[in-house]
Amino acid sequence: MKILITGGAGYIGSHTLIELDKSGYDFIVFDNLSNSSKESIKRVEKIINKSIYFEEGDVRDKKALEEVFKKYDIDSVIHFAGLKSVGESVCEPLKYYDNNITGTLVLLEVMEKFNCKKIVFSSSATVYGNPSSNPIKEDFSVGNTTNPYGRTKYFIEEILKDLYSSDNSFQIAILRYFNPVGAHESGTIGEDPNGIPNNLMPFIAQTAVGKREFLSIFGGDYDSADGTGVRDYIHVVDLACGHVKAIDYLNKKTRIEPLIVNLGTGIGYSVLDMVKAFEKASGKIIPYKIVERREGDISTCYSNPSYAKEIFDWEAKKTIEDMCIDSWKWQSNNPDGYN
Ligand code: NAD
Ligand code: WQD
Repeated sequence: MKILITGGAGYIGSHTLIELDKSGYDFIVFDNLSNSSKESIKRVEKIINKSIYFEEGDVRDKKALEEVFKKYDIDSVIHFAGLKSVGESVCEPLKYYDNNITGTLVLLEVMEKFNCKKIVFSSSATVYGNPSSNPIKEDFSVGNTTNPYGRTKYFIEEILKDLYSSDNSFQIAILRYFNPVGAHESGTIGEDPNGIPNNLMPFIAQTAVGKREFLSIFGGDYDSADGTGVRDYIHVVDLACGHVKAIDYLNKKTRIEPLIVNLGTGIGYSVLDMVKAFEKASGKIIPYKIVERREGDISTCYSNPSYAKEIFDWEAKKTIEDMCIDSWKWQSNNPDGYN
C-alpha cells in the first residue's frame, strides 16, 4: 500500500518523504513541478538511498490522477499540492481558486471513485486571520483571512468537513502549519523560492549569502517587545514528522471526525530575534532597514500546540538555532537553490 504525496517535490513535501521513509511508509509523488523541480526528488533519493516513484501531473487533471490510482495501490493521500504566494493570490485570485480548490475537488472525486478515503491536508495558520489573542488554539474563529490564498485554505477545510458529513468513512486530518523554516540537516534539500523571496527566512538567508543587499523589516512599531512582528517558526523536519504522526493516527482509527491540528512550536520570535539568531548561526552580518508595515500583516501569531501532543504524541523538538544552522547550510551550499 502506498501513500500518494501530491506536491511531494516541493519544500515541505520533499522533507516529509524522508520522514515517511524512515517510518517504513511507501509512497508515490505526484507533482506538476510548477513550483519545484525533479532535482529535489533526486536529492531525496540520495538521502534515503532508494528510488522514488514519481509521476508528473496536475491534480486538476482527473484522467492523469485516475491513471495513477489504477497503476498504484494507494490507500491514503497527503495533499501538499497548492500555490502559496499571498501577494500573487491577491493579483490573480482565480488562479489560486482554480489551482487549490479545483485541484482538491478533483483529487477528492478520484479518491472517492477508488475508495481511498484517508487524507492529510496542508492547511495554514493563515485561516485564523488576526487572532483575538495568542497562543492560538484550534477552536479559535477562522475564516477571517485577509487574502485569496488564505481563503482557499479555509474553503478547503470546509469542503473536507462537508465531505465527511456526507460520508463518514472518510478519515481526514487538517494540519494548520505555522511558519515552516529550516532545511534537512544534510544541507542538500531546502526552500527554493522563485525570484525575490516573500518570506522572512529565505530573505534573511539570501542576504547572508550576499544575494540581497539588506533585509527590509516590515514595521518597527508593533505591539511586541522590540516592535517587530512575532511568529511561530517551526523547523520543516519537525513539521514533516507531524505528517507521519497524522498518518499513523489515521491508520489506527476506523472511524473518526475530521481532525484539525496546529503544528507549531508554541514559541513566538520577533523578526529581530530571527535576524540575531541567523547572524550567530552563519557568522554573517545581516544588514537591515526598518520600513513601513507590509499590508495585510498582523502583529503576533503563535500556536498552542498541545492538541498535537495529546493526540499524535507530536511536539516540535528543534530550536531556533537548529532552524538557522540548517537554513544556512542549505543556502550556503546551494546559493542558487536547485539550479
Ligand atoms: P511548495 O510550493 O514548495 O510545494 C508545493 C508543491 O505542489 C510544488 O512542488 C508544486 O509544484 C506542486 N503543485 C502546485 N500546484 C499543483 C497542481 N495543481 N498539481 C500538482 N502539483 C502542484 O510549497 P510548500 O511550502 O512545500 O507548501 C506545501 C503546502 O503547504 C501548500 O499547500 C501550502 O499552501 C501549505 N503551507 C505552506 C506554508 C509555508 O509557509 N511554506 C505554510 C502553511 C501551509
Ligand atoms: C514573517 C514576519 C513579516 C519578510 C506567510 C503567509 C502564511 C504562511 C506563512 C502559507 C512578518 C516579516 C517578512 C521580509 C519582514 N504561508 N518580514 N521582511 O507573513 O507570517 O506568513 O507565510 O500558508 O499564509 O502569510 O510569514 O515569512 O512572510 O513573515 O520583516 O522581507 O517577517 O512582516 O512579521 P507570514 P513571512
